[in-house]
Amino acid sequence: MSDSPLGELAAFAGRWAGSGAGHYPTIESFAYREEIEFTPSGKPFLSYRSRTWNGITGQPMHTECGYLRRTVSGQAELLVSQPIGLNEIYRATLSRGALDFVTHTLAVSPEAKPVKQIRRAFVLIEDVLTYDMWMAHADTPLTHHLHAELQRVSESGLIEVHDRPVDSAEDLSRRRDRRQDVPREK
Ligand code: HEM
Repeated sequence: MSDSPLGELAAFAGRWAGSGAGHYPTIESFAYREEIEFTPSGKPFLSYRSRTWNGITGQPMHTECGYLRRTVSGQAELLVSQPIGLNEIYRATLSRGALDFVTHTLAVSPEAKPVKQIRRAFVLIEDVLTYDMWMAHADTPLTHHLHAELQRVSESGLIEVHDRPVDSAEDLSRRRDRRQDVPREK
């Protein structure tokens, strides 16, 4: 048993980098590079961020963020917010490194693409994280959209903020006063 408030979800903590492939009956297939961060906080959740880039041009593609959390009953929950107008809550039981998420809530903005359903599954085997995503969109029923495979590139995912000196409240207010003394340009 793990001592972490995350329980067995602690194994997901870190920065992950790799690549993926996407397809869907209504679009051209594509390849992408991806970086995922599951950043620990000392609390029973990991902050989650995924960023992707076009595998050929390097242009930024999809991004999303949220939390992977351990509930009071020990379930895994994934909370995701997407800038295309979606908010999602999923629940799963972690079993031998696999999180097969069932949707609890899918909130779709009135101006977002008409996504009807999403299924997400993650599998963690040692330092390799893979996931698959299926979606139902418009008239297309639940169909595979993404598969990606990422390698762990750092253990913690923590940005090294703790190595930076902390400014005192006096220093901060002196700097704020100095900034307010600067006349604004017309
Ligand atoms: C849960 C996450 C995602 C959702 C819900 C989602 C949803 C969608 C939807 C609804 C479409 C439109 C399909 C159509 O017009 O018939 C689409 C297309 C597309 N998706 Fe995703 N997607 C997700 C993740 C990603 C990721 C991670 C990438 C790339 C790294 C990606 C790349 C694309 C591309 C290139 C298209 C086709 C062009 C476009 O419509 O922008 N998607 N996706």
